Amino acid sequence: MSTLRLGDEAPNFNAQTTEGEINFHQYLGDSWGVLFSHPADYTPVCTTELGATAKLKAEFDQRNVKVMALSVDPLKDHHGWIDDINETQHTDVNFPIIADEDRKIAELYDMIHPNADEKATVRSVFIVGPDKKIKLTLTYPASTGRNFNEILRVIDSLQLTAYNRVATPVNWQQGDDCVILPSITNEVADQEFPKGYTEVKPYLRLTPQPNLD
Ligand code: BEZ
Repeated sequence: MSTLRLGDEAPNFNAQTTEGEINFHQYLGDSWGVLFSHPADYTPVCTTELGATAKLKAEFDQRNVKVMALSVDPLKDHHGWIDDINETQHTDVNFPIIADEDRKIAELYDMIHPNADEKATVRSVFIVGPDKKIKLTLTYPASTGRNFNEILRVIDSLQLTAYNRVATPVNWQQGDDCVILPSITNEVADQEFPKGYTEVKPYLRLTPQPNLD
């Protein structure tokens, strides 16, 4: 398969999951989506990641985001592992985990990097928009747990910049000032950003986050 790039359609698939058989695109519906892979069941880093994701359900729901995890282990193992995750991370796993035993989905999304590991998936993340296009890809090694607060932060930026002609600067967090797109003239910016803006340089104009009261 060729590498998936930003702006490509997220390939659709049918999958066996811990919540039954799921068609990816139907599951997403009009929502945003996060599809993320795990090297293997019953492993320590993955256990903490899945527990943390379950605890963030309210944050994902608030942003209209559906999450789905994947590992290439069988469904039976997933169910036993979920019991361990719930017990050790003090949560209830509340999203589907794909059992991709034949690795079809892992290969479709290029989640196996043979020079890192021939069989297990790396830690991939795909954020998908309501248009089913890929908005972000991340690849972490098996030995490094991902930062799911960063994933939420990126979703906030993606959702903001999808509907407002701004970009988000370094380390931006919800509520911080944004930058006006360089393609917008000052004359247009005067109309489009009624809260005003600070022109630090002609190409660096800061404005309060436009989608907040
Ligand atoms: C883990 O999830 O803990 C893990 C998996 C594969 C290699 C290293 C760590």
